Amino acid sequence: MAYCATSHTPHISPKSSSSPRNALIRSRNRLTVVPIRFPPKISSNVLKFDRIRPPIRASSAQLMEQNVGSRVPTIVDVDLGNRSYPIYIGSGLLDQPHLLQRHVHGKRVLVVTNTTVAPLYLDKVVSALTDGNSSVSVESVILPDGEKYKNMETLMKVFDKAIESRFDRRATFVALGGGVIGDMCGFAAAAFLRGVNFIQIPTTVMAQVDSSVGGKTGINHALGKNLIGAFYQPQCVLVDTDTLNTLPDREIASGIAEVVKYGLIRDVEFFEWQEKNMNALLARDPNALAYAIKRSCENKAEVVSLDEKESGLRATLNLGHTFGHAIEAGFGYGQWLHGEAVAAGTVMAVDMSHRLGWIDESIVKRVYNILQAANLPIAPPECMTVEMFKSYMAVDKKVADGLLRLILLKGPLGNCVFTGDYDRKALDETLHAFCKS
Ligand SMILES: NC(=O)c1ccc[n+]([C@@H]2O[C@H](COP(=O)([O-])OP(=O)(O)OC[C@H]3O[C@@H](n4cnc5c(N)ncnc54)[C@H](O)[C@@H]3O)[C@@H](O)[C@H]2O)c1
Ligand SMILES: [Zn+2]
Repeated sequence: MAYCATSHTPHISPKSSSSPRNALIRSRNRLTVVPIRFPPKISSNVLKFDRIRPPIRASSAQLMEQNVGSRVPTIVDVDLGNRSYPIYIGSGLLDQPHLLQRHVHGKRVLVVTNTTVAPLYLDKVVSALTDGNSSVSVESVILPDGEKYKNMETLMKVFDKAIESRFDRRATFVALGGGVIGDMCGFAAAAFLRGVNFIQIPTTVMAQVDSSVGGKTGINHALGKNLIGAFYQPQCVLVDTDTLNTLPDREIASGIAEVVKYGLIRDVEFFEWQEKNMNALLARDPNALAYAIKRSCENKAEVVSLDEKESGLRATLNLGHTFGHAIEAGFGYGQWLHGEAVAAGTVMAVDMSHRLGWIDESIVKRVYNILQAANLPIAPPECMTVEMFKSYMAVDKKVADGLLRLILLKGPLGNCVFTGDYDRKALDETLHAFCKS
């Protein structure tokens, strides 16, 4: 399994005549689109989730009702019995020390962050942890920045710091940064002394809408993404939306790939809202961002509370990720952002769903349109070959007894299945449509 040799920025338009989009359109007449009846037959290795609906509603009116100027956080609860925790969402939350301090149980805190985020927010977080509370002492470990450092060697730096500074079981670890820091700090907290408390302060859209919620923590292995890790829930998640002001545009778009995912797999009203408000999201309209974060967290919190350890439903949050993780590993971690790889992977999963006759072509078009509107790639990098996809997909965590299970769309928009019961030919056709060799 060789990494792609070249590095380039993602394509954001379909390849000309050989584009998968054209391939789809060309193949339209060859495909038999089977009318979908509901409820469908559910075979033993197919899990269908269209009947689990979130008790939430999206509307532009609601967007206008958001009071971004208010410093009262919106709270979304992740309901996991005695491991339940709040997600605080709002502007200026790092200036409200009580929100963090109530979740620090011992007297010593280790903030885990990186070389980019530390100069921007570390002082603010230290103040939030210590203002009016002189009994708490805060130390920090500043890791190198980037997906390529999400590995055992970097993780060791957290343990080195914690052990050299003689942190004990009453320690609280605080993850300050994007998904890479959150996943690594969470895993460090899960493993250090067999588990210490931790708090997530996500500072990217990706982390605020997805990675900081739900307790998946871990690191990469050279042979695959996130293969080493633990389920480990934080004490709280604090989303200060002001931190997004310093985030580069490309990172904003990357996070939006996960926002689109929630709409596609389970929340059609949210998808429709995104279709109308994508420009506002990209322009960092604070109301639009706050609404998208809240709605995403509500969706994720509901899925996680129904299936914390991913026995079925939670796997649907990985729409596009099996293809996407292959791109991340095959291209070399960090060449494409996670959300960019997920966007291209989502297009591939949607293409395959259409080849199987499980979704209407209008859905395929809407997916292309929304991802393009978000400036995200809609095809994998050209260096990815069919063989590379196959070898990386073979080590995906969703392989069970040698069978690759995928999240595919099925039925009207907002419905998906997690299944190993699909025609292998469709997967092959999708891979060949998107790869030159
Ligand atoms: N645990 C989960 O459930 C889950 C879910 C989705 C993604 N992930 C993981 O998350 C990672 C991707 O997360 P990401 O997209 O946040 O990437 P990231 O953590 O690499 O952050 C992106 C970049 O933005 C910088 N940054 C962070 N906050 C900033 C800010 N406020 N201002 C300026 N720069 C800032 C970072 O230093 C980095 O350079 C992947 O490793 C992925 O596997 C995990
Ligand atoms: Zn993801």
